[in-house]
Amino acid sequence: MSDPTDRRIVVLLSGRGSNYQALRRAEEAGWLGGEIAAVISDRVQAAGLELARADGIDTVCVARNRYPDREAFEHALAVAIGGYRPRWIALAGFMRVLSPGFVRDHAGRMVNIHPSLLPRHRGLDTHQRVLDAGEREHGASVHFVTPELDGGPVISQVRMTVAPDDSPSALAERLLPLEHRLLPATMALLLHTPVEARDETISIQNQTLARPLELGPDLSDDGRLLGDGGRD
Ligand code: GAR
Repeated sequence: MSDPTDRRIVVLLSGRGSNYQALRRAEEAGWLGGEIAAVISDRVQAAGLELARADGIDTVCVARNRYPDREAFEHALAVAIGGYRPRWIALAGFMRVLSPGFVRDHAGRMVNIHPSLLPRHRGLDTHQRVLDAGEREHGASVHFVTPELDGGPVISQVRMTVAPDDSPSALAERLLPLEHRLLPATMALLLHTPVEARDETISIQNQTLARPLELGPDLSDDGRLLGDGGRD
């Protein structure tokens, strides 16, 4: 039998938890290929903790304000994560910048969903910044976490068109359901297929990705690779 720790996911979140829920629905539907072992938050009030509890998932709160400094906080976070021995750590609306040391300790097994077409618009307020830049296209990305904020190699993306009269809230509202498809599809891919980040590039089954996989043409909603998916 395969090692069950190869299938375990720990989800880190700070707020609402709708991307956690999307992962959980995929697990319940039977195609995620992994098991959400725990949801961990840095905020006591995170609604996502309640959602996970209602689903019968282990929850841990490592509240940042209970620790004197970032080092102590990250040590507690690492202990909480380590207790579950996850294969993957999914940052799903985890709004805290992690130190280079923490990121290095979890390298190659920590991914983040970000609401922009990376490398465009790292950081906050991505919807507003897309409008300010007059861009006609927006989207979300799932990437490996590296010490550079929102800077790690991008595994997958989903795209949508920006309308002339769009507002930041309209963009956020239209993007969220796409995020809810992208994150589970990407996690399913990672759980089923050897995917590695080497320097700035992604390799899948030992083939280098020329560009991020796009949900739809390259990656199915249940995490299967379609076509050549931009692999060389
Ligand atoms: C999502 O839109 C996610 O992309 C974003 O936070 C939201 C969390 O929503 N993450 C970031 O901005 C990370 N830089 P959720 O709590 O409902 O999943």
